[in-house]
Amino acid sequence: MTAVETTREAREPVGPDEPDAEFEALATAVDAAAGAVAGLDEPARSAATDLRMAIEAFHRPALVHIVRTLRDDPRGKELLFDLVDDPNVRAVLGLHGIIRADPATRARRALDAVRPYLQSHGGDVELVRVEGGTAYVRLHGSCNGCSMSAATLREGVEEALIGHVEEIERVEQLDDQPTVAFIPLDQIGRKRDTGWVRGMSIDEIPPGEMRRIDVTPDDGEPHSFVVTNVEQSLTVFRNACVHQGMTLDGGMLDEGVLTCPWHGFRFDASTGECLSAPGAQLTQVPTRIEDGHVWIRAAGA
Ligand code: FES
Repeated sequence: MTAVETTREAREPVGPDEPDAEFEALATAVDAAAGAVAGLDEPARSAATDLRMAIEAFHRPALVHIVRTLRDDPRGKELLFDLVDDPNVRAVLGLHGIIRADPATRARRALDAVRPYLQSHGGDVELVRVEGGTAYVRLHGSCNGCSMSAATLREGVEEALIGHVEEIERVEQLDDQPTVAFIPLDQIGRKRDTGWVRGMSIDEIPPGEMRRIDVTPDDGEPHSFVVTNVEQSLTVFRNACVHQGMTLDGGMLDEGVLTCPWHGFRFDASTGECLSAPGAQLTQVPTRIEDGHVWIRAAGA
């Protein structure tokens, strides 16, 4: 993949005001120059490639320094959000590997690569979440069981995940029932038995869908949340985007990515990690399933 193809892939549409024509014209000019270089004889092509790589290497430390400096300062973080809102800025940061997909997204891509092989043997796999170095998956069809072929398919899944996502060290298999995403106890707090409010039935939240839940706990203050179902794993977030605090429920949930309807910031719908702005995170809320319903600890959320 060429540099400009990578840039185009890194650049996601974010809204009606994006300068498509300008970006496309610039990208086309780069394509034309790259095509001309490809037609040169070997010494000239090699020199041109070295020049491109040297310029990219020259730019990268400066860009990394700018992003780190902004990210480490609360005021700078706001500015960084605005900057990565610009598709061209985001594309350049993506080109230099400064913004990259989170482990769950890369794990899904790794599984997509082995899925045709699994399906050709009657099996399949879903990624539920990646957490603390462990990938949690659900296996289907012939991937289950204790036959040699099932063991081989499971090994293929493990190799794909551990071999392609450096953060993953282990793979755990889950059963087929809906579950809620894990939340550390220290986030729930000492009075963790209080403030729970019953939300909607889990049957109203099919896989790949997102629903808004409005509740009013005993403290009388109304709260709004969104619940996502990514491959049978339910996660509840405050219904507030990290960008400008607007509601998320009118957004789109597609292949585990939640896109805010207002300015197009994208989030991992299982973890809340912002894929558009480094270091930003949706607020996840303690959740459990009981009586076939989602229960949310709304107080203090
Ligand atoms: S992207 Fe701006 S409020 Fe969500």
